[in-house]
Amino acid sequence: MTVSSAPGKLYLFGEHAVVYGEPAVACAIDRRARVTAEVRGDDRLRVESRDLTLDGFTVEYDGDAGDEMDVDVPTPLVEAAMGYVEGAVEQARDAADAPDAGLDLIVESDIPLGGGLSSSAAVIAATIDAASRELGVDLPPGDLADRAYRVEHDVQDGQASRTDTFCSTVGGAVRVEGEDCRRLGDPPNLPFVVGYDGGAGDTGELVAGVRELREEYDFAADTVRAIGDLVRRGERALAAGDVGTVGRLMDFDHGLLSALGVSARSLDAMVWAAREAGADGAKLTSAGGGGCIVALDDSRATRTALKYTPDCETAFRAELDREGVRAEE
Ligand code: MEV
Repeated sequence: MTVSSAPGKLYLFGEHAVVYGEPAVACAIDRRARVTAEVRGDDRLRVESRDLTLDGFTVEYDGDAGDEMDVDVPTPLVEAAMGYVEGAVEQARDAADAPDAGLDLIVESDIPLGGGLSSSAAVIAATIDAASRELGVDLPPGDLADRAYRVEHDVQDGQASRTDTFCSTVGGAVRVEGEDCRRLGDPPNLPFVVGYDGGAGDTGELVAGVRELREEYDFAADTVRAIGDLVRRGERALAAGDVGTVGRLMDFDHGLLSALGVSARSLDAMVWAAREAGADGAKLTSAGGGGCIVALDDSRATRTALKYTPDCETAFRAELDREGVRAEE
């Protein structure tokens, strides 16, 4: 039996624009997906989910994710989750040159599913790592990140940047620009507060919406480029440990993302609650449409304000997690 975990992440700056080659900066956070893998005697795959935000379900199948599902959560989310797990197992089988290996997997996660904290990337990275080690292969981080990206890319019909999978694999703060993925050296510990509306956006639809706007209007393409400029400034502020400027740029980024149509009433309500509570900055994180916002505040004020915001289901503090995928006992 082999167990691996991988962190979720949030975007400090640059989501959506990163899909068009602009840079993005993201931070792994101390919320993890944990996957237990055990070889079985046949060639089947059995997946048991104990996701805290996805009521438990078990699927046993031989390649058809529709088999024997008994769930009480929206089917598209489950199908997407199964697509990620199945793709990750294929990568592990390929790495171990064991195309017919059967596996029992248990997936546990304290990252809200589809809420913008990269639950899928964390599950993919932890699954590839646990399953490949269980099959006798230790993948180096670069190879693991690459394989994780291929899974997300396929499930999301080619509409994924490398940010989520790279960040979940290597941990810490990362910068991604096209194929160029790197860890940022010694980032400051930012006082993250996350607000979660209990929902999820449809990444594919949201990415397609931005693509259409960008093709139709020059000023939408300019907005995407402006996000890239903002990210470059944000990187400098982050390197200087200038939390005030990082926060101001997060506010600005939220405005630009709203202009691109990817915010939501619940996300705006949480962002404004955080700002009014005195946060240094607040923005949606990842695809948008619903899910999570991230604010910077080292006092309790933002968390308290979010708890009293009707659109916020839960609010919590998050720490930068400097560790990516790791083997667990
Ligand atoms: C989704 O987590 C973030 C997007 O930028 C898409 C991507 O980077 O893959 C919207």
